[in-house]
Amino acid sequence: MARVSLRDVNKIYRSRHDEVHAVSDLNLTINDGEFVAILGPSGCGKTSTLRMIVGLEEITSGEIYFDDVLVNKLDSQARNVAMAFETYALYPNFTVEENLAFPLEVRGLPQPERRKRAREIAELLRIDDILNQKPTALSGGQQQRVSLGRALIRDPAVFILDEVMSHIDAHLKFQMLFDLKSIHQELKKTMVYVTHDQVEALALADRVAVMSNAELQQVGSRNDLYHTPSNVFVADFIGEPPTNFFDAELFTGDNGTVLRVPDSDIVFQLDQGHAQRIARWNERELKVGIRPQSLHLGGDSARPALEAEVAINEYLGELSILTLASGGRSFRALVDADTAAQRGDRLRMHYALDDVMVFSAKTELIIL
Ligand SMILES: Nc1ncnc2c1ncn2[C@@H]1O[C@H](COP(=O)(O)OP(=O)(O)OP(=O)(O)O)[C@@H](O)[C@H]1O
Ligand SMILES: [Mg+2]
Repeated sequence: MARVSLRDVNKIYRSRHDEVHAVSDLNLTINDGEFVAILGPSGCGKTSTLRMIVGLEEITSGEIYFDDVLVNKLDSQARNVAMAFETYALYPNFTVEENLAFPLEVRGLPQPERRKRAREIAELLRIDDILNQKPTALSGGQQQRVSLGRALIRDPAVFILDEVMSHIDAHLKFQMLFDLKSIHQELKKTMVYVTHDQVEALALADRVAVMSNAELQQVGSRNDLYHTPSNVFVADFIGEPPTNFFDAELFTGDNGTVLRVPDSDIVFQLDQGHAQRIARWNERELKVGIRPQSLHLGGDSARPALEAEVAINEYLGELSILTLASGGRSFRALVDADTAAQRGDRLRMHYALDDVMVFSAKTELIIL
């Protein structure tokens, strides 16, 4: 096993006509035995990062270490990394067992040993009942398991998965997420899992590294990313439905300090502590974020609230998403499905001050 450290890593693809900066000054350490997900929208540099870790892509600048060994110049064989892709690439004329055992055959392991290991891995992945079948007879989910198994059987120091579940239906995906998590708990391998799906990333990983536009935005646990996002991008990308954002200005009047949203009745009342912490940043133009989950109906009327009119009430089984409007601004709140809110109703949506996120409008970095 190994700890993987990336230091100031850059990837620039150069062609005759243009230059793409795919990964920019990336610093990230994946601890020995840790499960880290790299999460971000399409084109943000996730696969490029993985391919540099694996040794399939040259590093433009910076250093990658496996434990204390600089691996920049080592080929992927020498790095002992296994990678499983979305595309299964199984050998169609081999049975599942032969597919699984193939990496061991290449290494020259004797037949009985290959067979034993293939069966162990198959049991772990719960595909031991299809060992004699050919890949064409298997479902997509089974094929992906075989492909995972073929990567695992090599017993790599680092195990890398790139969007391995994007073509699996929701039900099976849930099962596979559970399986992968159990496999990780059993094998305790250093794993890097790439996805653009926050549900997968947050369900699986010990820590999630969020990327956007070639840059790492934040690395943290699901709690860190959800409750203390480092910037507007992370606050927006993590959580469903997405965070509500308002452009706001800090205003101090007779009733204390508030964050006022122009052209609306939306006002966030601050207490002295919060007001002072924001004032210290000396920024007049601010962006306020509040999650739809942080807005609640009812309760103590003395608590701070946003007042607005219901525009849409969307039922989602146990919960409903309310879209509320105030002046030209709208925002969403997640409420109990029993809530009898109708278009035109005026509601007070309460919040706790600790759930209000405040960002600099200029840098988009969090200040509170
Ligand atoms: N071989 C290449 N030559 C030139 N540009 C490339 C090459 N590979 C990737 N890029 C560009 O680098 C950027 C990052 O690509 P990358 O594949 O790393 O993104 P990604 O986050 O994996 O995206 P996706 O979620 O769509 O797989 C993109 O702008 C892409 O077009
Ligand atoms: Mg990719």
